[in-house]
Amino acid sequence: MAKRKWIRVPLDKDSKFSLQQQLYDALKKGIQTRQFRSEEALPSTRELAMELGVSRNTVIAAYDRLLGEGYLESIPRSGMFVSSGLQNVAFPSLSRSSSARALSTIQESPVSMELARPVPFRPSQPDVSLFPWSVWNRMRNRAMRKAGLGVLDYQSKYALGLPVLRKAIAQYLSDSRGVRCHWSQIMITTGSQQALFLIGQGLIARGDTVLLEDPGYLGARNAFVHAGARIRGIPVDDHGLVPSAAKLPAALFYTTPSRQFPTGACLPTSRRLEILEVAAKAQAWLIEDDYDSEFRYATLPVPSLHGLDSSHRVIYVGSMSKVLYPSLRIGYMVLPEKLIDSFERLRLIVEDHGPLVDQVTLAEFLESGQFYTHVRRCRKSYAAKLDVFLSAVHKHRLPLEFPHIEGGVNQAGLFPSSEYDPERISMKLEKNGFYVPSLSRYSLQSSCRGLLFGFTAFDFDTLRTAVARMAPMITASQDRRVTQRKR
Ligand SMILES: Cc1ncc(COP(=O)(O)O)c(C=O)c1O
Repeated sequence: MAKRKWIRVPLDKDSKFSLQQQLYDALKKGIQTRQFRSEEALPSTRELAMELGVSRNTVIAAYDRLLGEGYLESIPRSGMFVSSGLQNVAFPSLSRSSSARALSTIQESPVSMELARPVPFRPSQPDVSLFPWSVWNRMRNRAMRKAGLGVLDYQSKYALGLPVLRKAIAQYLSDSRGVRCHWSQIMITTGSQQALFLIGQGLIARGDTVLLEDPGYLGARNAFVHAGARIRGIPVDDHGLVPSAAKLPAALFYTTPSRQFPTGACLPTSRRLEILEVAAKAQAWLIEDDYDSEFRYATLPVPSLHGLDSSHRVIYVGSMSKVLYPSLRIGYMVLPEKLIDSFERLRLIVEDHGPLVDQVTLAEFLESGQFYTHVRRCRKSYAAKLDVFLSAVHKHRLPLEFPHIEGGVNQAGLFPSSEYDPERISMKLEKNGFYVPSLSRYSLQSSCRGLLFGFTAFDFDTLRTAVARMAPMITASQDRRVTQRKR
């Protein structure tokens, strides 16, 4: 064994790193650079603490870490030594590569917690300030007491979701949406986007044709394109999709019958029956995405397409994103019986299940009736917001028509004439801090001339001032085009 050696470590009391960390780093570096050799004796903790002018606990903690990592060994009644057997160990080079340096710069910069809030008029955003946190927390505590500790364990047996939630959702769908199903057909997903992704993976073979509403929801298009589908549009008119224009063959249809995304049209019963017939003829699956049907302001919600289906081709997809809050990431689908097993297997590839604490909490929230109280409160608030939004649009003479104001969390505004360029206006608005996509963003081939406004996430004042600020940017766009034409 080598003789004990004095150690000089420049410790900085003002450093952002603790004294213990600095000492640990210095000793470790000393061992790695062979300044301290294998089997060399180190001072006792009391001696080193005195020498460095730090507390003994600081030295004990640094030594303990190095002992734990195998750099030091303690020999009873002899003291602390650099571990024997380190002489032939090749330590990683202490000069850091440029990529490691770049990474450490990222890691050492303060961790940002800036979570973005929606800017006006970002579509599809609920008013999360209405969410009843204290009630939810009470429901969570109650649900956790009922469920016990198992709710914190892996439960791969419940890949389709916990039965308590599946039952509560089946009841809710039957009461509110006219969906008739057994609870075992309900599959809980992390948002309806996961449902669409799983449908793509489970039901579409590469090269299959998928028919999407045109214009339509980009999340669905992305999921099916990723699955290798050939995408074709079904035209949409003032009443929603036009079944007679669907070009067969097709493996799957994606629809938003209660409120067509993005136009807002509600599909009449005659067309619902027609699209069911077309899907049956094509032997295709029919996806009904019922993303915001809780929000009807003047009339009762329209019953689902699923309720009219006798051929078991409809897969109903729903989401808690609008009705509760988007980051909850709970969605669900109602599967035809013959698909249940294969979707369970598919889900197990992705993950065992979603967060179970949220599942039991939501079940309690539904069963206690608090869910319905919350929906009523949101519906009332959104109806008032829609009024404020439309009055401001009227007051500032925005050249837009809103044909489907009976419900929804978004409103499609259509330009009555071609004097306006929605793409250009949308870009201009974005440069000025707004987010108002042009309807053409959602088009395959259709030529929709308008803008999509989300109004539910913003308070009355924001709605009024945002419309007032935005109005000249829209009307000025028309003037320029007319002037250009006159020249
Ligand atoms: C048509 C449509 N479907 C589904 C969703 C909801 O997706 P998720 O449940 O994944 O939040 C949205 C959200 O904006 C939507 O607009």
